[in-house]
Amino acid sequence: MSARGHAFGIDIGGSGVKGAEVDLSTGELVHERIKVATPHPSTPNAVAEAVAKVVAQAGWDGPVGITMPSVVIGGVIRTAANIDKSWIGTDARALFATALGGREVTVLNDADAAGMAEDRYGAAKDLDGLVMLLTFGTGIGSAIMYNGVLMPNSELGHMEIGGKEAEHRAAASIKDRDGLSYQEWAAEVSTVLIALENLFWPNVFVAGGGISRDYREWIPLLTNRTPVVAADLRNSAGIVGAAMAVSSGIAP
Ligand code: BGC
Repeated sequence: MSARGHAFGIDIGGSGVKGAEVDLSTGELVHERIKVATPHPSTPNAVAEAVAKVVAQAGWDGPVGITMPSVVIGGVIRTAANIDKSWIGTDARALFATALGGREVTVLNDADAAGMAEDRYGAAKDLDGLVMLLTFGTGIGSAIMYNGVLMPNSELGHMEIGGKEAEHRAAASIKDRDGLSYQEWAAEVSTVLIALENLFWPNVFVAGGGISRDYREWIPLLTNRTPVVAADLRNSAGIVGAAMAVSSGIAP
């Protein structure tokens, strides 16, 4: 973190590697997001190059927080559901640190980052108790926070519900793939939320991912009992959470 309470966050997604400097007193981006296309195949070295481009373009020379769509433990990538399998076992912290000239790097799961950002600055900022964020995108990411403390690397998108993984039932990509109406897709999302609320009893669900922009179309159609609020920070939540992770100790 820089002296003036700013840090740099990078969110690695399926289509773009996006980054910005974040003012941690407000959770706001200091400038427009810088975006470089995610390379295909998204191998570790190719992605590290894209990360270095984003940071160079911003002219940032301090520490950097980076999200990955993976379980991340001690900077090492443990799963790769929707990215190149060669990431598994990669020490991402060391790889990115080298690509960024040896500076301090923190790596964490993308949904954990978004969850922390929504919990501190966004949709759940005034809410106590158990907050569960789910991101609906290519897969389903999850973050569990209790009174602001993250339980990292929950992978609820892979929970089997009715013989199917949650993310194969209700990710936003399934709606697109199968041409589901909001009504049909919301029924799948409800099935997932009901299974989760029966096990975890959260105070609130925060719904994130690109499709949360259209929340008026589908949140009212949900039939589960726990309140569901739309994420507030939208596509900057990952960047903000990544910046928060720098020197904060929230990355596992
Ligand atoms: C991955 C999670 C990730 C989520 C959203 C899932 O397939 O297993 O680690 O948070 O997708 O990107």
